[in-house]
Amino acid sequence: MGFGKGSRLRIMVTGGAGYVGSHATQRMLAKGHDVVVIDNLARGHKAAIDRIHGALEGEARKRLTFVQGDVGDRSAVAATLRSNGVEAVMHFAASAYVGESVTDPLAYHANNTGAAVELLRACHDAGVGRFIFSSTCATYGEPERVPIVETTPQAPVNPYGWSKLHFERALSDYAEACRIEGRDFAHAALRYFNVAGSDRSTVIGEWHQPETHLIPIVLEVAMGKREHVTIFGTDYATSDGTCVRDYIHVEDLVDAHEVVLRSLEAGDARRYNLGIGRGYSVREIIDTARAVTGREIRVVEGTRRAGDPPALVANASKIAEEIGWKAQITDLGAIIESAWKWYQANPDGYDRDPAASSAG
Ligand code: UFG
Repeated sequence: MGFGKGSRLRIMVTGGAGYVGSHATQRMLAKGHDVVVIDNLARGHKAAIDRIHGALEGEARKRLTFVQGDVGDRSAVAATLRSNGVEAVMHFAASAYVGESVTDPLAYHANNTGAAVELLRACHDAGVGRFIFSSTCATYGEPERVPIVETTPQAPVNPYGWSKLHFERALSDYAEACRIEGRDFAHAALRYFNVAGSDRSTVIGEWHQPETHLIPIVLEVAMGKREHVTIFGTDYATSDGTCVRDYIHVEDLVDAHEVVLRSLEAGDARRYNLGIGRGYSVREIIDTARAVTGREIRVVEGTRRAGDPPALVANASKIAEEIGWKAQITDLGAIIESAWKWYQANPDGYDRDPAASSAG
């Protein structure tokens, strides 16, 4: 049986102090669930957790537990799962810089595959039978055809994509073993396209160091923090020569996790693309950011960045057809506006937050 609508769950959110994980933490709490965050704060921000906690009222604060630790520490994680009565894990903790994965591949295999396998073993030890994994469209590599469906062959073109694909495989193999043994286990791997935007109440938001993503960089130019944005390649075979991506709002993205979790039945092994099903070029992003901010955004046309596929756009109809989920915030201006509001309210992100000093 699935968990069904309305039931309150105890969910472990790994990487809950990071960009996507903090939004998941906030929204799972808002939906009435109990959340246990585990984060080693290598790249996450303790301030994000403190802000989420601070925005909760009275008794609700007791529904958020923070544990600083590594997901790869099997026995400690199993103990945390048991002591908190966790029923489901949403696994966001990961390294997520494609470029870094090329220069330090073993860190990616260790973190994104190795530590994730230990986390899954901890779930096994503690009898946690529901698992949602943050996978990526990078597992598809450079597909011949877009939009991308879930059956598109997975052929990553960088260690980041491989490290995520390997864990998808570990999940499938474990699920099969559970089926043979009659063990109650169900999981989903959600393949994210380009996650963008921030909490519309501006309590938390996107804050990466270093920042490499297009929308934050464009907005930093609008704020006067950078001189210009460099367009990485203007000679692609796309409508205006620049790369096309499918940008999904972070709130929609994390909400999909809850809908999927509620729908899981023992034995399920799901794979869903999470995108809006429409692509925007780099130039369209910049033009929309100009309109949203009313600021000048200086552009320099540069050369291609290694490993960038020309177009990555999701066919997101499988999740809509199977469980009725689809993105609500599909207007690019609205997505960029939410990011803009966060940056305006928090020009230094979490850096000047009193809690930032403990953020590792
Ligand atoms: N871009 C620029 N200039 C910049 C930054 C980005 O032109 O300064 C372009 C990129 O070349 C790309 C597009 O903007 O065409 C989007 O780039 P991002 O770095 O924002 O995002 P990516 O598409 O490279 O990466 C995203 C996720 C990764 C994930 C990948 C899957 O951030 O975690 O999708 O391919 F692996």
